[in-house]
Amino acid sequence: MNYLPIFLDLRDRHCLVVGGSETAARKAELLLRAGARVDVAAPALHEGFARLPHADHLSRVADAFSPALLDGKDAVIVVEDDAPAGGTPAGAPLLRSDPSAASAAKAIADAARARHIPVNVADKPALCSFILPSIIDRSPIMVAVSSGGESPVLARMLRARLETLVPAAYGRLSALASRYKDRVREAIKPEQRRAFWEKVFLSPVAEMVFSGRDVEAEAQLDAMIKDGAEHDISRGEVYLVGAGPGNPDLLTFRALRLMQQADVIVYDRLVSQPILDMCRRDAERIYVGKERDDHAVPQEEINLMLVRLAKEGKRTLRLKGGDPFIFGRGGEEIETLVEHGVPFQVVPGITAAAGVASYAGIPLTHRDYAQSVAFVTGHLKENTFNMNWEGIARHDQTIVIYMGLKGLPLLCEALIKHGLNADTPAAIIQHGTLPTQRVITGDLTTLPALAEQAGLKAPTLIIVGNVVKLREKLGWFQPELHSEQAHRTPLEAADHLP
Ligand SMILES: C[S@@+](CC[C@H](N)C(=O)[O-])C[C@H]1O[C@@H](n2cnc3c(N)ncnc32)[C@H](O)[C@@H]1O
Repeated sequence: MNYLPIFLDLRDRHCLVVGGSETAARKAELLLRAGARVDVAAPALHEGFARLPHADHLSRVADAFSPALLDGKDAVIVVEDDAPAGGTPAGAPLLRSDPSAASAAKAIADAARARHIPVNVADKPALCSFILPSIIDRSPIMVAVSSGGESPVLARMLRARLETLVPAAYGRLSALASRYKDRVREAIKPEQRRAFWEKVFLSPVAEMVFSGRDVEAEAQLDAMIKDGAEHDISRGEVYLVGAGPGNPDLLTFRALRLMQQADVIVYDRLVSQPILDMCRRDAERIYVGKERDDHAVPQEEINLMLVRLAKEGKRTLRLKGGDPFIFGRGGEEIETLVEHGVPFQVVPGITAAAGVASYAGIPLTHRDYAQSVAFVTGHLKENTFNMNWEGIARHDQTIVIYMGLKGLPLLCEALIKHGLNADTPAAIIQHGTLPTQRVITGDLTTLPALAEQAGLKAPTLIIVGNVVKLREKLGWFQPELHSEQAHRTPLEAADHLP
């Protein structure tokens, strides 16, 4: 080890920051967040200092460093001027007697070391007696990552990866454990305590805290303490998770975490293979997708299957395309769970309208073109639509039509009949957000024929309204149609029934 990682208790301790740049402000912020009182020596302060938390613990005590400022300090951070602090010339002297920033920093570091005060000089590991790691702050849980100053970018990248793995509510779980510490000490024998806490953290108690169900979590923990290590709470639970429009980069952190811990995955046809590949490898997978006019598994059966799996004690992930509550029948599924007293949580996903429109370069609202947006289903029932056309066919509104490929000619006809101009711009997007994305634009009279000529494959999304014109200027996503991945067609799906 080149360095020993330690965590300093700086609450109400005095620290010195030498330098007034934006970087110096960020270092001062770290010290303030750790509860320190911070003196700053700098000719002027960057405006970032004005936005720091706990400003009453910060004071600018001098415009340059002098050894007397080290009196009573527990840590020193030196930042050579990387940018002029508000209004002062770059490279303003840190040390009254020495205008050269480089040797000034060394002199300050030497002075601090001579007094055994830990010192850090930003970007100069050779001058440091301590270095600042990249931090994942889930206080009171802290994770610090360091490359020993050799590759800060790599350390930051690793930190970013860890950020996605550690739920934001980790700190709350730790706080819960802290509240129960004494009770557990009284109730559980010392030799069983460690196993007890491991069991708690691996039980649904943790998931309850992460999803904001703290009262339920406390009730479970109470029961576990009462019955000691013998208490076995069922892990059975349903996670109703939106997987977004298909591109795995558009999953939420929470979705990914639950995908990696579920025992069984119940998924639809719209869930792309790359997303399924990200689920826990040994999880059981149950396909319940539907094809047009051929319900692979009837909805009622899916609802009851979720109840059964959870009651068998399985953490059951119901993975759905887009968002579970938008044309996803998520509401019906959780209604059945409620009726059967099965615990569940819902994780929103990026709905096709939002994801596909973004990747097609079509903003759904725009000050000049559309003040509202309607999400409608274009699913035909006995060759007609069940639609409030007056509320939908409006010139100042964008209409997003899910499941509309088959009914496209009838939809366009109906929109014109109910008042939209025949030349209203319209687009149909196949496999939005994916390498196989294709966007066909036209207007209400031309789009059906253009879509047919293009031989589009479902899933497709239709967008109608003047915002479609913006695509010419704002289209940004260049799907790599020739890439190997594109030929695998991640969503080889038929248009979906609601
Ligand atoms: C049963 S609905 C489910 C919608 C989903 N719950 C959502 O929030 O996006 C299926 C329809 O969503 C649309 N859709 C979903 N993913 C899509 C994609 N990647 N590209 C285009 N349309 C998509 C299509 O209209 C498809 O027929």
